[in-house]
Amino acid sequence: MRAPLTVLLACLALPAAADSLRDHALTLFEPLPDRIDTVAGHPVTPEQVDLGRMLYFDPRISDTGQFACATCHNPATGGDSNRDTSIGHAWQTGPQNAPTIFNATLNSARFWQGWAEDLPATGDSLLQVGAERTGTPERMVATLASMPAYVDAFTRTFPDDADPVTFANATTALESFIATLVTPAPFDAWLKGEDSALSPQAREGLALFIDKGCATCHQGVNLGGNSYHPFRVIRTPGTEGQPESIQCFSVVEDDGTQYLFRAGTLRNITLTSPYFSEGSVRSLPLAIQIMGRTQLGTDLSDEETDRIAAFLESLEGTPPPITLPVLPRESALTPAPLPPLREE
Ligand code: HEC
Ligand code: HEC
Repeated sequence: MRAPLTVLLACLALPAAADSLRDHALTLFEPLPDRIDTVAGHPVTPEQVDLGRMLYFDPRISDTGQFACATCHNPATGGDSNRDTSIGHAWQTGPQNAPTIFNATLNSARFWQGWAEDLPATGDSLLQVGAERTGTPERMVATLASMPAYVDAFTRTFPDDADPVTFANATTALESFIATLVTPAPFDAWLKGEDSALSPQAREGLALFIDKGCATCHQGVNLGGNSYHPFRVIRTPGTEGQPESIQCFSVVEDDGTQYLFRAGTLRNITLTSPYFSEGSVRSLPLAIQIMGRTQLGTDLSDEETDRIAAFLESLEGTPPPITLPVLPRESALTPAPLPPLREE
């Protein structure tokens, strides 16, 4: 008789437990919106999204003609690149890992160390940063203005502007395209009430994620992307000449040095290895254990780590279908690409 009674009690207990976990989770997280209608104070229009998609996939906006936004933020591979840190202008390796572009519109904290203004507030820093990684805004505008089909697309998109091919308008279009890149995941379905969307292991992982304190820094709609925190770092040799705070790090227990870093979004984290601002860790379980140790002073067991990883898997979402645009052809006025390794 005892076994059936236990089973019965377990059955009765489950929905209540699921509801209270969900209630608690809803105080910390929220499901992704179905769509984003305004960004940086402007409405998202279908024309802007189409033009933004063209710009996003066009490598000719970089000086060398080599780098599109999609080179480093590739929607086919989780919205980021697989490199530790990006290669950019003049084949220089940058100091930082490219964050995923998916759901980036919903981050209120931008960039690993927050040195750029919040993009939605400033309007034009998004493209500014992207374009300056690989070229200059002036050259980019000259390139776009040289192609009649681009001029037509800008004119259609910004009909009230006398001179629509501008850096600011390109930014607006890119912001609108990026705003479409939201990736609803099983966790969103579960938050909205679909019990079966999370496996029991993922639910246990969610409970641990909350109880251990991960959600102190990784909360909100993107489970991160909205605050900066100290992360312990230590210098490693051979990185002279870069700002100290972004050198390759190894995590130590007590080096007395702390720098502020953004607690990044954990959405699609299963797709965005390597991890951390310097892309120095490729294993998700290891990244979870490092976080436990350095941020919470806890050694997570392998079992706890697996459960948290199972929860994080439920944050892997479905990107919208993206049609690769056919881009305008160049004209006689289009600047030729610059050589990649020119003298500065
Ligand atoms: C050469 C690689 C590279 C290219 C090309 C590039 N990015 Fe980035 N992007 C990065 C890196 C690296 C960061 C992180 C920089 C930091 O945190 O300081 C970043 C950050 C961003 C962010 C902030 C994301 C967040 O969550 O904070 C946005 C938005 C963005 N890029 C958009 C673009 C757009 C739009 C383009 C094209 C115009 C572009 N990027 C081109 C590498 C690149
Ligand atoms: C005190 C704040 C804080 C707490 C608590 C915290 N994190 Fe983090 N987390 C951060 C910061 C800051 C970073 C970015 C560090 C860097 O990249 O240099 C980060 C990065 C990460 C990353 C890598 C993200 C990426 O895109 O590369 C993962 C995964 C992660 N945290 C998971 C967890 C888990 C799981 C827990 C709980 C065991 C946790 N974090 C607890 C602040 C925190």
